[in-house]
Parts: sequence; structure tokens; C-alpha cells
Amino acid sequence: MRKLRLLVLLSVIIITTTLCAKSFDEMISKAVKLYDEGKYQEAAELAEEAFRVGDPSMDHYYNIACCWALAGDKDNALKNLSKSIEAGWLDVDWMQEDSDLTILHGDERFDELVTKVQKILDELEQGLPTEHNELAIIELPEPAYNSDTSIEKALKERRSIRKYNDEPLSISEISQILWAAYGITKPIKDAPAFLRGGLKTAPSAGALYPLEIYVVAGNVTDLPAGVYKYNPEVHKLIKIADGDKRTELYKASLNQDWVKKAPASIVYSAVFSRTTDRYGKRGREKYVCMDLGHSAENIYLQAVSLNIGTVAIGAFYDTKVKVVVNMTNEEEPLYIMPLGKI
Ligand SMILES: Cc1cc2nc3c(=O)[nH]c(=O)nc-3n(C[C@H](O)[C@H](O)[C@H](O)COP(=O)(O)O)c2cc1C
Repeated sequence: MRKLRLLVLLSVIIITTTLCAKSFDEMISKAVKLYDEGKYQEAAELAEEAFRVGDPSMDHYYNIACCWALAGDKDNALKNLSKSIEAGWLDVDWMQEDSDLTILHGDERFDELVTKVQKILDELEQGLPTEHNELAIIELPEPAYNSDTSIEKALKERRSIRKYNDEPLSISEISQILWAAYGITKPIKDAPAFLRGGLKTAPSAGALYPLEIYVVAGNVTDLPAGVYKYNPEVHKLIKIADGDKRTELYKASLNQDWVKKAPASIVYSAVFSRTTDRYGKRGREKYVCMDLGHSAENIYLQAVSLNIGTVAIGAFYDTKVKVVVNMTNEEEPLYIMPLGKI
């Protein structure tokens, strides 16, 4: 009898949760539609109602703050903005640029929230290492220098792919992708330090190579879950953190599902000073991102020949990605590229 009661109770909980989840999603979709139609007050009220039956995220709170601000209700806008920050919202630049929140500019309560977020960001940045602890050195298999996929086929078939199957990746595939991204193709003996071993698969302004490449691995055969930094000079991986960080990376990348589901992700960062010390503003505004584009396109093309899907992701919280990957404080994250079999 007790068992039966428990089963009935569980069924009721499951059914109620499913119904609530559904109505939450439905209400939020309707609220988004109302927002698009410029009916901000109605959108905000409906979203508040949805919040009572569902589990709002930091984005939900942020968006409803926008609705209230556009409806002219500063108090409710600030209340939801504050909840959004409590739930993890850290995009302080966007908070200040977002025209939806213009009504809050100049309000000291808004300034306090900006200061609060900036403080959280500063603390996170201060916790970043100046150099990495090398937990292990992983030898990578020699990459292949030929395949049946012509460059024309790879160009024709290249696509951003966001759905992968459950198969793990192999360490050979990771090795091949890393080599394509930044592997050495012309070793230079006694080369100056900035060359880091020689010329690479991707061109770089002044051969200054500002990029760093990480692998966030979760389901790769012969590569334990962890965060690894690529050393192109010796074509090896350096383990810098233990454990599967894919869910954290997914949260840092605005909940883009493909980041959580991919067996591994490449994360690019750049040490801008390597390029800006020589090229100044031109280096910052143009060259580093041009370098990134060359390298990332190599990954896209190499992925085609390996039957791997990937997508270049630029939308994420910089500081959160830095923390998840354990980047040094001189680096800025640029792209996340999930990798998975298709
Ligand atoms: C700078 C940049 C940032 C991007 N950011 C994202 C992103 O955050 N999430 C995503 O799913 N796709 C992102 N993409 C991929 C584009 O959506 C994709 O390239 C575009 O839709 C064209 O599709 P294709 O790459 O298949 O030709 C980004 C692409 C670039 C070049």
C-alpha cells in the first residue's frame, strides 16, 4: 500500500512537473511574442506568471528586466536585473549598452548593480593563474598528411554543424584537428621564441602567433576528461585541469546545447600583446582576429575530411570561459568549436 501510494505520488509529481514545464515554456514563448509586438507590460506580466510555475534562468530574469524597463517600470526592471545577477548574469558591457535598459541609466541603483557585477568579474579574473600547472604531458599520434578528401570537396561541404552522435572521438582525430589548426609545417631550428618552433598551418601577421588552443575533453578515447593546452612546437597536449568541464563550458556559452553534447571542444584564446606590441591598434582591431579566422577555417575543413561536425562559437561570457578553461590572465577567449561525429 505504501509502495503504491509512493508510485501514485511520484506519477503526480512527474505529470505536474511536465505540465508546469510545458506551460512555463509556452508562456515564455508568448511573452517573447508580446515583446516583439512592442507590448512590453503584457510581456512582463505574463513572464512573471510563468516564473511562478517554472524555473527561470538568469536570461529569463534579464529579459523580463528589459520588458519592465521598456514598459517604464524602473522598480520591477531593477528587481529582475538584480535577480538575474544573483542567478549568474555577468555581461556588464551589454547591461550598459543594451538600449532596452536606457531608462535605468543614471539611476544610482543601476550603477550599484553594474559595480556589483564588475566586482564579481574582477574577483574571477584575479583568481586566474599567471602560468599553468602541468598535470600531465600527452603525446599525440602523428597526424596524417594526406586523405581522400580533396580541398575542393572540403570547401564545398564545409558547414556549421550543431548535432553530433554519441560516438566518442579518438585521440588521433583530436591530434589531426590540432595539427590542422596550428601544427608546425616548417620547423625552424633556433628560431626566435615568438615563432614557437616554426611556421604553422595557418598564416599569422608577422609570424607572431598570438593564439593559444585548448581542448575541453569529455568523451575522447585514450584522453581522460580534462582541459588540455596544445603545444604545437612538440605536437603534445599539456593537461591543465582534471574532470569533465563540458557542462560548465555550455553554461558559459549561453547554454548552447551543442557545447554540452559534443565529446570535446576546442577553445581558442589569444595573447593580444604578442601582436599589439609590434602592430598596436591595427594588431588589436584586425590582425589577431584575422589569425583566428585562418586557424578556425582549417579546423572546419579538416573536420569535413574526418566526418566530424563543428561550429565556430563567438557568443559566450568571456570571464566564465576563462575560468572554466583555467586560462592565464593575459589571454582573451575568442572561439569555442565543439567537435563531434556526424
Ligand atoms: C564570428 C562568428 C561567430 C559565431 N558565433 C556562433 C555562435 O555563438 N553560435 C553558433 O551556433 N554559431 C555561431 N557562428 C556560426 C554561424 O552561425 C554560421 O557560420 C553561419 O550561420 C553560416 O553557416 P555556415 O557556417 O554553415 O556556412 C558564428 C560564426 C562566426 C563567423
